[in-house]
Amino acid sequence: MKTILAAALALTLLMPAAHAKDAKEPDAAALYAQHCAECHGAGRLGGTGPALLPENLRRLRKSRAADVIAKGRVSTQMPAFGDTLSEAEIAALVKYIYTPLPSMPVWGEKEIRASRHIPVDVDYSVTRPQFNADPLNLFVVVESGDHHVSILDGDTFERLARFRSRYALHGGPKFTPDGRYVFFASRDGWVTKYDLYTLDVVAEVRAGINTRNIAISHDGSVIAVANYLPHTLVLLDARDLSLKHIIPVRAANGETSRVSAVYQARPRKSLVVALKDVPEVWEIPDPDAEQPTIRRIAVPEPVDDFFFDPSYDHLLGAARGAHKGALVLNMNTGKVVAHIPLPGLPHLGSGITWTWQGRPVMATPHLGEGRISIIAMDTWEVIKTLKTPGPGFFLRSHEKTPYAWADVFFGPNKDKMLVIDKRTLKIVKVLNYAPGKTVAHVEFDRHGKYALISVWEMDGAVLVVDANTFKVVKRIPMKKPVGKYNVYNKITFSEGTSH
Ligand code: HEC
Repeated sequence: MKTILAAALALTLLMPAAHAKDAKEPDAAALYAQHCAECHGAGRLGGTGPALLPENLRRLRKSRAADVIAKGRVSTQMPAFGDTLSEAEIAALVKYIYTPLPSMPVWGEKEIRASRHIPVDVDYSVTRPQFNADPLNLFVVVESGDHHVSILDGDTFERLARFRSRYALHGGPKFTPDGRYVFFASRDGWVTKYDLYTLDVVAEVRAGINTRNIAISHDGSVIAVANYLPHTLVLLDARDLSLKHIIPVRAANGETSRVSAVYQARPRKSLVVALKDVPEVWEIPDPDAEQPTIRRIAVPEPVDDFFFDPSYDHLLGAARGAHKGALVLNMNTGKVVAHIPLPGLPHLGSGITWTWQGRPVMATPHLGEGRISIIAMDTWEVIKTLKTPGPGFFLRSHEKTPYAWADVFFGPNKDKMLVIDKRTLKIVKVLNYAPGKTVAHVEFDRHGKYALISVWEMDGAVLVVDANTFKVVKRIPMKKPVGKYNVYNKITFSEGTSH
């Protein structure tokens, strides 16, 4: 009796599930809402993850998309669903994300202009900070845990302000050359201008639906916005974020493309634009002109994640296709001058440079493997590979310190911080300030005396560490401080930090 009951019970428990799986077509919209919408947006228009629309998935084969959903993508926030979803469910989701929306949302001139607002007028009579601190030694800390930004005094490490930001800031804030204003971009397209002298938000505009990053022109007059959706590069007037130009991103062959990122090439006084879907790199030599021009540079395959040498004569781009590794583009001739074989997903955007035995070198972490590559920039050869206890995300140093700091972002050693001696190219210290926690992203103060380190957790902190003794001198509680940026190091384009 007992066994029969148990068997019957087990059957009734098993049956519906087994039935549901093969009886009817999975409800893709419901699956999407349950598993994907939190990152890719309710309308598939993007959030912390990219927009999932046929227009944006052209370069991804459907079989690869199914693979990404099942296995996730290493070293990104894209999780694996192979254990949660059946093959049929994954197939239904693939079909769903390649189905065009009934109507594509429009984000053009009218929408951009209507979104702009000025919370507080800039007070141009103010010419100094309205508080007692070195304005060039401030830190801007992005706290993604609860979508806030903190402003820290870089000498006393007191918090001067904390304000609510837009949803999911991305790509690093950009500063005007004098260090007074800072601009933020959110994944959902909002650009915010903040006055560091009065500690006020002074302008906001929504320049896209799904946005990657922003750049500021060399003279601080133009903000360029790189969009995934729509396929545009938007130029704004840095004074009040009013719209200057919408540049539709279309390759020479007529295909449109997402914009991976836009960068300021300061010595060239230009902007450089990375295109995601077409094999072109753009340079805009005159971003503040009445009609900005576009110089198209053809590359063998689309590249993203850029690094520039200090003169900006060369661009290193990560190639994910046939030429795995990095290709080196001479920006003056527009020719590829070298391929650097770099397995394990180099994170070039985090690269830093210094001089080693009279030679200019750069170092880059890898997102896919526990290694740091050191490359001589005179010959573009890998001169040293450091083995690390796990893949890293950020690498930082400062002109005034002999050390470079690298995090271990992924895996069981995510609490470790590595110290590399820039003179010997050796790892000389392994630090562990918060066992079991993710410890990442270092930024130095303007003098190179202190390294600020993130405990990258909801209940996290910024640790202020003496860069010579490696001792923690202060712990400032923060909600997942994903990035921090020192005004001086950013506006001087310090060789120890990314730009
Ligand atoms: C926790 C956040 C998160 C969730 C949940 C999530 N994704 Fe993603 N997804 C991402 C991120 C971030 C990326 C971008 C990865 C990268 O940088 O390559 C991504 C990338 C993708 C890609 C590749 C897009 C491309 O252009 O290469 C596909 C396809 C995808 N996700 C589908 C899905 C589906 C379907 C679901 C739900 C079953 C889902 N994702 C759930 C964060 C997420």
